[in-house]
Amino acid sequence: MTTAASALPGAPFFGYRGGELHAEEVRVSDLAREYGTPLFVYSQAAMLAALAAYQRAFAGRDAQICYAMKANSSLALLQLFARAGCGFDIVSGGELARVLAAGGDPAKVIFSGVGKTRAEMRAALAAGIGCFNVESEAEIDVLDAVAREAGKVAPISIRVNPDVDAKTHPYISTGLKGNKFGIAHERAVAVYRHAASLPGLRVVGIDCHIGSQITDAAPYLDAVDRVLDLVAAIEAADVPIRHLDFGGGLGIDYHGDHPPAADVLWARLFERIDARGYGRRRILIEPGRSLVGNAGLCVTEVLYLKPGEQKSFCIVDAAMNDLPRPAMYEAYHAIVPLAPREGAAAATYDVVGPVCESGDWLGRDRALAVQPGDRLAVLSAGAYCASMASNYNTRARPAEVLVDGSRAHLIRARESVEDTFRHEALLPA
Ligand code: LLP
Repeated sequence: MTTAASALPGAPFFGYRGGELHAEEVRVSDLAREYGTPLFVYSQAAMLAALAAYQRAFAGRDAQICYAMKANSSLALLQLFARAGCGFDIVSGGELARVLAAGGDPAKVIFSGVGKTRAEMRAALAAGIGCFNVESEAEIDVLDAVAREAGKVAPISIRVNPDVDAKTHPYISTGLKGNKFGIAHERAVAVYRHAASLPGLRVVGIDCHIGSQITDAAPYLDAVDRVLDLVAAIEAADVPIRHLDFGGGLGIDYHGDHPPAADVLWARLFERIDARGYGRRRILIEPGRSLVGNAGLCVTEVLYLKPGEQKSFCIVDAAMNDLPRPAMYEAYHAIVPLAPREGAAAATYDVVGPVCESGDWLGRDRALAVQPGDRLAVLSAGAYCASMASNYNTRARPAEVLVDGSRAHLIRARESVEDTFRHEALLPA
């Protein structure tokens, strides 16, 4: 299936002009010629527009947007979001180091994740992050000990598991009882009481995150209700909660998906929050995909066409190591030519990469009129693509370019093959 030009995910920041795909004012094929393929191309205006939808929703509120940087952690993008006032949701000491390298404000950093090490806790305390989102009872006691050893008090929120079904792919659904994330709803009051009694911790908030690529408002409304019920119960037990963190998870349009716009969703959530009397609380959110997903594409070149009896393959130079989402989640990404061959007959191909795995596909059963040497764009590739890329098959990771109007900034040089084995050692002679 080809995607009609008017309906490209990422429009209006990505679209055809004069028969050529553009990112803002820049012809994508010019970038491919200059920087080679595979190549990630991002639109700054698309990211700022996605952010603006949240900012509109939070105008006049006491709120902090913490970009979930796992979606795309390139330094330049962190810098862009930091300059726009964002904090960051991090899940490792490595991500903290990136925030600091990009000039982000540590006070606006929240630290999520079920497996924080003591060393990561120490680094985050030393940096003075805003809040640890604690995910288990065991972690509470370790963080208390680490903070006391460091002569600090760790600000914490407890990630509660609201047990709501986000109705998304099981690998990216996180708010159900069977998931490894968060502390069970029923344990929350007892755990808050315990945390509040520890000298190394200061309770500042509560948080939840129910999953990713959520395209419906209903699970959010359920989560808001459940979290607010808990806040009432926790405060009745004399533990004040300053901020409410509702996580991330809002989906994007990959293939005819219709998630609510961020401002529309939040208008609904605020109706509920206001009606229940919590409208003046400080609100935090942790959006990732919805800020960057449709602000990026990956350019790839057609290497070979391989017609077959059952299937025909379009073999391209990008692969599952660059774009792992189809292989991992059977995710759909639209794939379009940079310069459509008008009038040429299309054939149906599986678009696959050079990696030696049958799971190495980028798109299945796509109607494409292509020849070797043509370039294609894999759309909706701004989130969870470059940040999940690997060196499998000793493939160097792609370059990344950020387009701003008619300018293009190389924000990550293509890795060299030597880079991929720089830290390895040969055995002694
Ligand atoms: N906060 C927490 C605690 C999270 O675990 C996540 C994502 C987010 C925020 C951001 O969620 P978002 O707004 O991006 O949906 N690799 C998968 C997605 C994994 C999401 C993991 N957690 C994918 O490619 O679909």
